[in-house]
Amino acid sequence: MTGNDEEIAKIVTRELEKNKVDTQIQEMEFVDADEFNDLDILVVASYTYDDGEVPDGAMDLYEDLTEAKFPNLVYGVCGSGDTFYEDFCSAVDNFGDKLSNTGAREGAKSVKIELFPEDKDVERLIQFTNDILASANRN
Ligand SMILES: Cc1cc2nc3c(=O)[nH]c(=O)nc-3n(C[C@H](O)[C@H](O)[C@H](O)COP(=O)(O)O)c2cc1C
Repeated sequence: MTGNDEEIAKIVTRELEKNKVDTQIQEMEFVDADEFNDLDILVVASYTYDDGEVPDGAMDLYEDLTEAKFPNLVYGVCGSGDTFYEDFCSAVDNFGDKLSNTGAREGAKSVKIELFPEDKDVERLIQFTNDILASANRN
């Protein structure tokens, strides 16, 4: 929509690549949940829309996660929202719940960001990414 989550995804990707992780950014609209079977690490960055909904373009993926099982995956969820709304960043929690139910392991506590990631948020995202890496390396 306005690029805040794209920026978040780039920050996480930069940190992963710094740690020599082979990384790919994909738009949720064009991702099939089956592809997650081939991954070691999944990071979801999602904004929140009307009344706490996941974005329209992410809905198919979100629903497909209900039936999915990823016992070997380590994941983290982050995203931007706006505290103007009552359900601040609830899509982050929704994706977290869905992924948790797949049997995947949460590698880091979710990070919720007010709109565009400022310096302090960049620090939080770097920590988040390193926590995920540490968790994945324990496998
Ligand atoms: C119509 C509309 C509804 C929104 N609803 C919510 C909401 O319920 N909760 C929330 O935290 N943010 C809400 N937002 C704010 C967006 O999640 C926020 O602007 C986000 O940073 C956009 O991310 P993007 O730049 O990646 O598109 C809403 C924004 C719009 C335009």
